[in-house]
Amino acid sequence: MNGAGAVESHGKGARIVLSDGRSVLDFGSYAVTLLGRGHPDVLKAVAGELDAMAVSTRVLANGTTAGFAAELAEYTDPGRLTRVWLGLNGCDAVEAALKLARLATGRTRVVAVEGAYHGKSMGALATTWSRRYRRSLEPLLGGVTHIPAVPEAVPGAFTDGDVAAVIMEPVQGEGGVAVLPPRFLDALAAAAREHGAFVIADEIQTGLGRCGERALSVAAGLRPDAVLFGKALGGGVQPLAALVATEDLYAPLAKDPFVHTTTFSGHPLAAAAGSAALRAVEELAPRGVRLAELMAGGLRRIARGHPGLIADVRGRGLLWGVEFHPGGAAGEVLLELSRRGLVVSPCLGRPEVIRLLPPLVATDEEAGEALDLLDATCAAVPDEFRRGGSGAGAEPDDRFPLGTGAPAGPSRGLENGAEGAAAVRRGEGTSPAPGRSRVR
Ligand SMILES: Cc1ncc(COP(=O)(O)O)c(C=O)c1O
Repeated sequence: MNGAGAVESHGKGARIVLSDGRSVLDFGSYAVTLLGRGHPDVLKAVAGELDAMAVSTRVLANGTTAGFAAELAEYTDPGRLTRVWLGLNGCDAVEAALKLARLATGRTRVVAVEGAYHGKSMGALATTWSRRYRRSLEPLLGGVTHIPAVPEAVPGAFTDGDVAAVIMEPVQGEGGVAVLPPRFLDALAAAAREHGAFVIADEIQTGLGRCGERALSVAAGLRPDAVLFGKALGGGVQPLAALVATEDLYAPLAKDPFVHTTTFSGHPLAAAAGSAALRAVEELAPRGVRLAELMAGGLRRIARGHPGLIADVRGRGLLWGVEFHPGGAAGEVLLELSRRGLVVSPCLGRPEVIRLLPPLVATDEEAGEALDLLDATCAAVPDEFRRGGSGAGAEPDDRFPLGTGAPAGPSRGLENGAEGAAAVRRGEGTSPAPGRSRVR
């Protein structure tokens, strides 16, 4: 998408080298590289397991996998969340949670939150909010109600007494880095408990220290029945996701382990990476506090300096969203940043927000460099993308297939709108040569 003709070649720590020799800072990668790239302990653990038992028989117990499951339960909420199911992608963990909640309660309804993102597999998609990903596939899994993130909306969702589970992200990452109000989360968890529904905390993006806690929901006292992890869990080296649950929620699987299986669940290489990753994120936690302060201060300063462009900055720990005024500036900035040397992520559900996801291993200098690049890029954005410019005032448009907010039509388009996505599919490459950039 964004390499200006080059492809990613290799990476170490917070940096990636492209095939044309350019080096870029990686503050994106959709929250996977919390430990940066090539964390030595994770690589060593995976190499050892690769030699020993690269795949499991799935009929014999595997010590690496079992050991990791025990460590993860101990890490998440010791003594309360005692059961673990492992998958590869985040949506695997969501599917497992939804199935278990239905099986354990005999009920079918699920309460989710407006703005939520829980993945795109058919079950998870029903709990994801954005119409853009859902509408062409409906009808999806039935019985899902999305409610706004205000305490007043909670009681109405439980009137029929048939709710199996509520599912929520304490901070909605793909939903634009929306920090959900504690009063709402408290009310939702309390109502679920009162009505015999399970509380599923989707911490696939927020967990493992990304937002300063192992799991925000546990730290906030929500007492979730399941915490879901993914993304960074495999140490930025292996695909890995997990459901960490109470005995009650896990009961259907304890009774019959075959009610939910996948071939690569509990993959030993991923489990080896996960064990090393848990230790590494704990060791690096103090570094996360320092980096979070740098990012918070720097981003707020940048927002103050570009009021016509930036509508808001918000976040927690190492998960930050920069919201641009409607009109395509977010896509413009995201593309130009990658040309100048900083990779960030778009928000899949909010095209006008870009996400900065610094890794725990970023140095102070690298954080400073990233902030300087953002500041300089914002300063160079053409006036038409600023409030009061010709592009301002347009509504956010979820037609943009890459989620970057780049305009789809030719009139205001950078090269990355609908046409750009089509070109990617045709294998033509889309990113303009650096000289063609419209950003000064
Ligand atoms: C909070 C949350 N839940 C679930 C998912 C789905 O994870 P995956 O894309 O690995 O299936 C994501 C992915 O962005 C996520 O951010």
